[in-house]
Amino acid sequence: MRSGTATSFVDPASMKIIRTVPELSGWRAAVPSTEHVAFVPTMGFLHAGHLSLLHDARRRVPSGTGPLVLSIFVNPTQFDPGEDLDAYPRNEAQDLELAESAGVDVVFSPDDPGQMYPSRQTWVNVEGLSSTLCGESRPNHFRGVCTVVAKLWMLVRPDVAVFGEKDYQQLAILRRMHADLFLGGEVASMPIVREDDGLAMSSRNANLSPSARAQALRLPAFRSEVLRRFEAGDTEVSTLLAGAEDALAPGVVDYVQAVDASSLQPVERVAAPTLVAFAVRYGGVRLIDNVVLLS
Ligand code: PAJ
Repeated sequence: MRSGTATSFVDPASMKIIRTVPELSGWRAAVPSTEHVAFVPTMGFLHAGHLSLLHDARRRVPSGTGPLVLSIFVNPTQFDPGEDLDAYPRNEAQDLELAESAGVDVVFSPDDPGQMYPSRQTWVNVEGLSSTLCGESRPNHFRGVCTVVAKLWMLVRPDVAVFGEKDYQQLAILRRMHADLFLGGEVASMPIVREDDGLAMSSRNANLSPSARAQALRLPAFRSEVLRRFEAGDTEVSTLLAGAEDALAPGVVDYVQAVDASSLQPVERVAAPTLVAFAVRYGGVRLIDNVVLLS
C-alpha cells in the first residue's frame, strides 16, 4: 500500500493525482482537442535526469497550452526473475513535490500495479533491437518496457513523450515501437544528466554503498577514455575498447559493446555513428552508461 499521506504536501489545485486506469481514461477524454498533451513516463524516485525530461516536455507544451503528465509506475513485467523489483527505490512523497515544482499537471501513479495488467497475455515485443546489449542478459526486460509504454501511450494519448538517452537501447526500441504501432504524437529525447563527478544519474544509484558508489566512477572514466581514444583518431573497436574489464574493475562487467547506433548490431570499426554501451555491476547494483561516437 502506498503512503496515503503523500498527497498532503501537494496543492490539489495545481496538480492532480490519478490512481486508477478508469480515472485516467476519464480525465483524458475531457481534455479539449485544442490542447496538447506532454508525457514523461518514469518508475519514480525522481532525480535531475527525470526533471530534465519534464522541463523539456513543459517547454514543448507550455503551461496554458495543455497538460504535462508524469507517470510513476515501477513496472513489474520489465524485471526478470531475480532482479531488483523489490529493492527498486521508491519515495512517492518526494516525487510528488518534485513533480509539482517541475510544472506537472497530472501524475498517474496507480495504487495497484495489477490494474495495468488485466491479464498477462498481451505483449508488445520489438524483435531484433531487443535481443542485443541489455536484452542478452535481461531476456524479458524490453518486452515489459514496450508493453507498459504502449499501454500508457494509449491511455495518455500524448502529442509528445520525452525519454532519456541514458537508456539508449530503450529509446531506440520505443521509437521503433512508436512507428510500427502508429501510436501518434512524437517521441522526443534528452541527453544524459550526470552527477558533478560524472556518474550518470539513476534511481538505482541510491542502492550503492559508499564504496560501490566510489568504484562506480570507473564508468564515466572509462567512457571518457573511449572518447579520448576516438578523438585521437582510433576507429578500431578492438583498440577503442581494449582493457575495458580492467578499467571497470572491480565492477562485474555484463557487457561492453560497440554497435551501429541505428541497428544496434555489433561493428568492428567506427565508420558510421556508433554506440559504445556498457552495463556493469558495482556492489551488486547494475548500472549502464554509453557514448555515441560520431564518425
Ligand atoms: P526510469 O528509469 O525511471 O526512467 C524514466 C526516464 O528517465 C527514461 O526515459 C530514462 O531514460 C530517463 N532517465 C533516467 N536517467 C536519466 C539521466 N541520467 N539522464 C537523462 N534521462 C534519464 O526508463 C524507465 O524508467 C522505464 O523503463 C519506463 C520507460 C518508465 C517504462 O517502465
